[in-house]
Amino acid sequence: MRKKITVVGAGNVGATLAQRVAERDYADVVLVDIVEGLPQGKALDLLEAGPVLGYDSNVIGTNSYEETADSSIVVITSGLARKPGMSRDDLVRANQKIVTDVTEQVVKQSPDTILIVVTNPLDAMVQLAYHVSKFPKGRVIGMAGVLDTARFRTFIAQEVGASVRDVQAYVMGGHGDTMVPLLSLTTVAGVPVTDLIPADRLASIVQRTRDGGAEIVNLLKTGSAFYAPSASVLAMVDSIMYDKKQILPCSVLLNGEYGIHDLFVGVPAKLGSGGVEQVVEVKLNDADRAALQRSANSVKELIEVMGL
Ligand code: NAI
Ligand code: 2OP
Repeated sequence: MRKKITVVGAGNVGATLAQRVAERDYADVVLVDIVEGLPQGKALDLLEAGPVLGYDSNVIGTNSYEETADSSIVVITSGLARKPGMSRDDLVRANQKIVTDVTEQVVKQSPDTILIVVTNPLDAMVQLAYHVSKFPKGRVIGMAGVLDTARFRTFIAQEVGASVRDVQAYVMGGHGDTMVPLLSLTTVAGVPVTDLIPADRLASIVQRTRDGGAEIVNLLKTGSAFYAPSASVLAMVDSIMYDKKQILPCSVLLNGEYGIHDLFVGVPAKLGSGGVEQVVEVKLNDADRAALQRSANSVKELIEVMGL
């Protein structure tokens, strides 16, 4: 039997991800949304692309959860974006309700699935999904670090005129203003980036990475980024589906690693068929370690807003 991947939220990130997964041809796709007709219409459109592109993935759109039963992976992208006049705390509470409801429904149908959370504020929402699902920690993962690192790698490659493939980097910490692009671990074809780019230029690349989401929101005027976010989720899904054991920066539950306890924060993690198979502890210098702790503290503030 073909495997099944569910994507909850048929908006920009969810629908683009459904397309990317269908084109992989390794699983059927179920697209869920509360808006009637939206997931059904997008799913049918994706299904009809199969003969042209040569994939046999079945793509189903639905407003309920029965069709999602026994999914190998469920990706949660449902949620609101911040609207004018809405504080960050208002957004947390609105998306807390949505992610709680979705997680409860998903878990009833797929008690053995691996959850990948995308909804913002990311680290708080993945902690919430862990709390609601009561899953083992390895089966609840947040996507943000792959995206933040992709942005960082893009800007470095542009700066030095290199292929993005030659830029190795990690962005750790929470998905927000306090994220931690690690210059000490960033290389271009093995050469430390600090030998290639002057400190003032590097500082502005780090800031542009931190502002990466806002830069796109400001350009689009309505909505936020979705091509790079959906590609980033796909990298995680691929590693799980193919049991690649790729080490990717993801928001995972830390139980003492990096000196952080009981909190989902972005760090390198090995993803395989079991979900998070290892939290990878890289050696950090004092400044990066302190920056990671500050970032974890800001995630904790959001967790407190949710009353978890
Ligand atoms: P969007 O507005 O295009 O799509 C969201 C969809 O969720 C809508 O179709 C809406 O009807 C649906 N939805 C709302 N409540 C629902 C519920 N209870 N059940 C099922 N579906 C429901 O938004 P977009 O651009 O797809 O972003 C989705 C989320 O992902 C946002 O919270 C956004 O901030 C976040 N995001 C996170 C990233 C990350 O790096 N972690 C990157 C990009 C987006
Ligand atoms: C981003 O970084 C909105 O979190 C989203 O693009």
